[in-house]
Amino acid sequence: MGETAGSRAVSLNSHPAARTFSGTRCSVSLVLWSLVGCILMVHFYSLIPQKDKGEIRIGSSHLSVTRELEEVEEENLYLPPPRGKRSPRAVKRRGPRKPYSVVDEFLDESSELHALFFPDRKSAIDPNKRGKDSMYYYPGRLWLDTEGNPIQAHGGGILFDWRTETYYWYGENKDGPTYQAHRRAAARIDIIGVSCYSSKDLWEWTNEGIVLSGEGTNATHDLHVSNVLERPKVIYNDKSGQYVMWMHIDDANYTKASAGVAVSDSPTGPFTYLYSMRPHDFESRDMTIFKDDDGKAYLIYSSEDNSELHIGPLTDDYLNVTRVMRRILVGRHREAPALFKYEGTYYMITSGCTGWAPNRALAHAAESIMGPWETMGNPCVGGNKIFRSTTFFAQSTFVVPLPGLPGSFIFMADRWKPAELRDSRYVWLPLTVGGVADEPLEYNFGFPLWSRVSIYWHRRWRFPEEWQRTT
Ligand code: DGJ
Repeated sequence: MGETAGSRAVSLNSHPAARTFSGTRCSVSLVLWSLVGCILMVHFYSLIPQKDKGEIRIGSSHLSVTRELEEVEEENLYLPPPRGKRSPRAVKRRGPRKPYSVVDEFLDESSELHALFFPDRKSAIDPNKRGKDSMYYYPGRLWLDTEGNPIQAHGGGILFDWRTETYYWYGENKDGPTYQAHRRAAARIDIIGVSCYSSKDLWEWTNEGIVLSGEGTNATHDLHVSNVLERPKVIYNDKSGQYVMWMHIDDANYTKASAGVAVSDSPTGPFTYLYSMRPHDFESRDMTIFKDDDGKAYLIYSSEDNSELHIGPLTDDYLNVTRVMRRILVGRHREAPALFKYEGTYYMITSGCTGWAPNRALAHAAESIMGPWETMGNPCVGGNKIFRSTTFFAQSTFVVPLPGLPGSFIFMADRWKPAELRDSRYVWLPLTVGGVADEPLEYNFGFPLWSRVSIYWHRRWRFPEEWQRTT
């Protein structure tokens, strides 16, 4: 006779042997749940960066030394009333007016909002005026060097040189007139060259001059003034003893899409330009280089019409790419990569592709630098929604580790001013790795795999005093 599952269960439970069976089942599930509990505890524990000998311990990103970096400021933005509608005739001719966005307003030189984001020289960060503002970063303000001139190091990167125990900041010198090569071209300045500034404290910068200059006469040269030189980055090659610079080389229409290489025996140049190439035979626009702890270096570049990034190791002398390359973030349309590493995990901040206009940053993470790279979401914290959706009206360029403060970094970004590129500003903000990522990956049952990367908005900030005392 057939038995229902229910009646069978009842009869089994009343049998002594069955009671033992049910007891076993109970303890099996207890063991299983304890196991799950242990795994979860280990998992969450692993998200908390641990102490290295001699370094300050960063708990779940709430230690007093970093707390002041994480206390973000909120911002209220006055939003202008929407612009008038087009007349029916104008609509017929030119279509309905595109809604005027905050970003349009920010880019419009005649707007109040624009002036707010590009304050004039009166409020400049000036290392010669010590006093209460000493060592404070003011993102977006004009930043003067030790001679009192605005720093010209856009799309830049920083090298810490162990030999001279000095930081060197390399970037685009854009101190020329902005114009358009033709009506539909992006705003540009002629190539002036790569500037270098030196500093012991990452705040007071001395101009070391132009370490790689534009070429005035030979129109076929990559560095001819009519071309484009962007995002220069320098690393030191321990084997050859050379400082190697990689940069984005292009023509005024951004169709050359190549990477250029230059070398020098000194961090302050002069650099000798070697050549440009299309790495792995692919287009290369926004790019960066990254030197890993084992001395291996990598080139990361936007390719395939900026629809994806490519990553590949450099040769041992850092002067070329090898044949190895992986496509990453395919179809995501990301550029302005800024890569860094913390506790064996690789992180990267990227921007979207909207020319000189700001857009939302994304943080990515990977266990192996060659990928797979996974996207964790927008790292920006504080300000307000518009600030966060525009990377604080700026675009990533580099991430510098704060020595002695593991898990803390400076996020370097450019606040571009396409109406007058030489007056573009720097937005440097604290970045920390720690805590739980806010966009857990779908296939991960809702549990985050990576620590959160956070970039905190501050109108004014400086390194924690405790940190300054220990360094
Ligand atoms: C965005 C890039 O990130 C910048 O370096 C520059 O190439 C602009 N596009 C030009 O529009």
